[in-house]
Amino acid sequence: MKITRTISGARRLCKATAGPIVLVPTMGALHAGHEALCRQARRIAGPNGFVVVSIFVNPTQFGPNEDLAKYPRTFDADRARCAAAGVDLIFHPSAAEMYPADFSTFVDETAVSSLLCGASRPGHFRGVCTVVLKLFSIIAPDVAVFGEKDFQQCAVIGRMVRDLDLPIRLRTIPTVRESDGLALSSRNRYLTPEERAQAPTLRRALLEAKAAFRAGETRAAQLRKRILKIVSTAPLARIDYVEVAHSQSLQPVRLADRATVIALAVFFGKTRLIDNILLK
Ligand code: PAJ
Repeated sequence: MKITRTISGARRLCKATAGPIVLVPTMGALHAGHEALCRQARRIAGPNGFVVVSIFVNPTQFGPNEDLAKYPRTFDADRARCAAAGVDLIFHPSAAEMYPADFSTFVDETAVSSLLCGASRPGHFRGVCTVVLKLFSIIAPDVAVFGEKDFQQCAVIGRMVRDLDLPIRLRTIPTVRESDGLALSSRNRYLTPEERAQAPTLRRALLEAKAAFRAGETRAAQLRKRILKIVSTAPLARIDYVEVAHSQSLQPVRLADRATVIALAVFFGKTRLIDNILLK
């Protein structure tokens, strides 16, 4: 496994490969969810392909009052995880390498980004699209792999790839969870023991809503109400949003169907957790 911190180094190593290039963009602090992405990337790339993991805590996707400074950085452990998952190259640039002081070009997806997380985190998806397009330009992957945990991120990047005619196939993997249902996240480590104990309520609420849908409840307002009721049993939970939306456009729907996603964001203390469930 190779490691490079420079754009020119990453370009050179990627250009030198004959087989398909598969990219897994991450911000590091890798956990079993990221590892599943890497293993999937390895399967897609095949023995002759080239699996690249980028590890970059991207400053442009953090708001001014968010956790950029304290975002966990665990490069030594990340490197070991990547090696175990069969990664060929880690691209680990500095912020200065990715963003020269007079950097002034951004990618703004303006429809899918404006809802859900985009509404509560203005500028977030502009930062995500900008860095992901830069990574696509540097690595020139044939395939890029993302996690359904960040459902809206998948939708926004899918739209960007389509709108800008990027010759890259996107693949997703299901959310990897703790045994009690909590979606793995680099931010789970911020939770206090009390918050951690209550956090699986989110998954429980989403599963109950899906069960209600299967039992015939299609009214989005009713599904949402059920979720709010269950989440409110966790005294430390503070809801940011719960939305019943179309899984591609993320526009809110009045009646749920098999193309519907229910997505939520909930604060436990200062930690904001997201999760979602597809009704299909
Ligand atoms: P990060 O939060 O590190 O996530 C990197 C990738 O791992 C994303 O595709 C995310 O959806 C996936 N992932 C996170 N938790 C997961 C889980 N429990 N199960 C499955 N996949 C999971 O998402 C980002 O970084 C950044 O926004 C990035 C795309 C790298 C741009 O900076």
